Amino acid sequence: MNEQKYWSRAARAAVPYVPGEQPKDRSFIKLNTNENPYGPSPKLKEIDPFSLRFELYPEPTGLSLRQAIAKANDLSLDEVFVGNGSDEVLAFAFSAFADEDNPVSFPDITYSFYPVWSEYFGAPKQIFPLGKDLSIDLSLVPDGFGPVVIANPNAPTGVALERAVLEDYLKAHPERLMIVDEAYVDFGAESMVPCIHSYPNLLVVQTFSKSRALAGLRLGFAMGQKSLIDAIIRIKDSINSYTVNTWSQVAGTISYQDEQYTREIVQKIIRTREIAKERLRALGFEAGESKANFLWVKHPDFSGTKLYEYLRGQGILVRHFSSPAITDYLRISVGTDDEMNELVTTLSKLFGGDKS
Ligand SMILES: Cc1ncc(COP(=O)(O)O)c(C=O)c1O
Repeated sequence: MNEQKYWSRAARAAVPYVPGEQPKDRSFIKLNTNENPYGPSPKLKEIDPFSLRFELYPEPTGLSLRQAIAKANDLSLDEVFVGNGSDEVLAFAFSAFADEDNPVSFPDITYSFYPVWSEYFGAPKQIFPLGKDLSIDLSLVPDGFGPVVIANPNAPTGVALERAVLEDYLKAHPERLMIVDEAYVDFGAESMVPCIHSYPNLLVVQTFSKSRALAGLRLGFAMGQKSLIDAIIRIKDSINSYTVNTWSQVAGTISYQDEQYTREIVQKIIRTREIAKERLRALGFEAGESKANFLWVKHPDFSGTKLYEYLRGQGILVRHFSSPAITDYLRISVGTDDEMNELVTTLSKLFGGDKS
């Protein structure tokens, strides 16, 4: 029997994104999905769930959360959109701005959801290579039209572009929309948010999953001029009018306003990242400068697969991608100091043994 006979063409053609492992076994040191090891703002403990009226549908536009985001970023309310994780916001943006007549440009090594959404929404992909030092070279973006999607800092490399470089592109290509995915921006890169009022072709997407330690809540947001936000709202309201649930709206608002806590945990992660980078270099790893909460490393003597499997066997999960261009690398999320000590100690034990 044809198991797929009830499937739509979209379901049959889909090439789904593969997320990092989420083992139930808590004994793993989990450095594979760029989560934040410190947990969210302790102010969330003050929320009384029974005061939130879960019997009612949520406020459909995420009003209080949008107000907090708009205020902190000098934007108006109609320049902010909130959704269930930046993945949902980005998917809506792909649907709003890309189609068979509007191809999507992005680098060959970047967030692996971009090709998935391009395929799903029927938009041709215009993929360009990374430049020297694994950085994104905007002079290599293919000429033409359609949105350009830039993760800044880029994932999985952690390399960031300066604001001035992105601004030069926006200025020179007013006909092209640039979507800047700033999932990791708080760990040391320059945000494009201050440029929003200068460029109608700029959409910035951020998340609560990384610097605010709320990956499990699924909260992300887009910021841009009203006509861009209006297009995203049209897509959202054609799929689900009540996307962000009441709990997430309240917890997200409190978390967003607790800037001091976010700053503290981000500073800790940056400090740990820099120490871990030096220690890995001392073990012979090539580890570039990262402006994100992860390191992108490779070792001249060991394959990425071997390192990944060895670490997994020792109870440490890191991310390894099988795609040939990057299969020598590991992406290691920055955990606590203790977790990173364990990582370095475990790796140094390997270097006495068999190399392959
Ligand atoms: C570059 C990039 N963008 C977006 C996301 C999605 O984040 P979320 O859906 O948790 O907001 C991720 C997740 O790891 C990412 O690496």
